[in-house]
Amino acid sequence: MLKKITVIGAGQVGATTAQRVFERGYADVVLVDIVEGMPQGKALDILESGPVVGSDANIIGTNGYDETEGSDIVVITSGIARKPGMSRDDLLLTNMKIIGDVTKEATKRSPDSIVIVVTNPLDAMVQHAFEVSGFPRERIIGQSGVLDTARFRTFLAQELGVSVRDVQAYVLGGHGDTMVPIVGYTTVGGRPISELLPKDRLDSIVQRTRDGGGEIVALLKTGSAYYAPSAGVVEMLDSIVLDQHRILPCSAYLQGEYGVNGYFAGVPVKLGSSGLEEIIEINLSSDEQAMLQKSVDAVEELVEIMHKSS
Ligand code: APR
Repeated sequence: MLKKITVIGAGQVGATTAQRVFERGYADVVLVDIVEGMPQGKALDILESGPVVGSDANIIGTNGYDETEGSDIVVITSGIARKPGMSRDDLLLTNMKIIGDVTKEATKRSPDSIVIVVTNPLDAMVQHAFEVSGFPRERIIGQSGVLDTARFRTFLAQELGVSVRDVQAYVLGGHGDTMVPIVGYTTVGGRPISELLPKDRLDSIVQRTRDGGGEIVALLKTGSAYYAPSAGVVEMLDSIVLDQHRILPCSAYLQGEYGVNGYFAGVPVKLGSSGLEEIIEINLSSDEQAMLQKSVDAVEELVEIMHKSS
């Protein structure tokens, strides 16, 4: 039997995620949105691509939650996206309300599901979903590090004229301006990046990675990135559905790891069929540890604002 994956929010990120999952063929998909007709229309359109892309999976759209019952995985992308001049944090309270509502509805009907949150500001939203759902940390994870790392790897591969597949890297910390590209663990064909690029070039690529989301927002003007974000979600889904035990940078609830207690932050985790199987602790330089702490402090501030408002 195919898995069942619910995608909440049928906007740019949600619909592209649904399309990518449908094309994998390993899961039936339920696409949920509040806009009447829109998730139904997109789902039908994707379904009709089945004969061409070779997928026998089913996909339906809905404005309610009954159809989501018994999902193995729930991906939450609902919310408002950034417009030019807005930071991810500007979305905080609006998206908090949306995430709270949809998490309640979805987890009630799929109490054993694994939840992946994509909505920004990511680390605060996944923390809110964690608190609302009461799920164990193994089954509630945020997508951000896969995307940030993909951006970093893209820029490094371009700079060095090598395949993206040969650039190994991790971007940890919060999904925001305080994200932490771990230069010490960045290698190209096994060689440390510090041997291949002068510091100023590397610094500017790190900065471009931090600003990667904003660069796309400034170009699009009417929304934010969705092709690479949805690809990031699907890399996580692959690892869970196919029990691949991939080690991927994801936002996870830390309980002492990396010196952080009680907050979500981007760290390398092992993902398999039961969700988060292990948090991998890599050695950080004192600078990297300090940057990670700074990014956790930023998340902590947002979580405090959310707690005060509720
Ligand atoms: N229930 C279900 N869907 C909702 C709800 C809700 N309560 N509130 C809003 N939505 C839907 C909107 O109707 C819209 O279709 O969420 C969708 C969001 O889609 P887009 O506006 O296209 O935004 P998108 O680019 O997909 O980004 C979604 O992901 O990467 C993050 O920062 C991004 O937080 C944003 C999220």
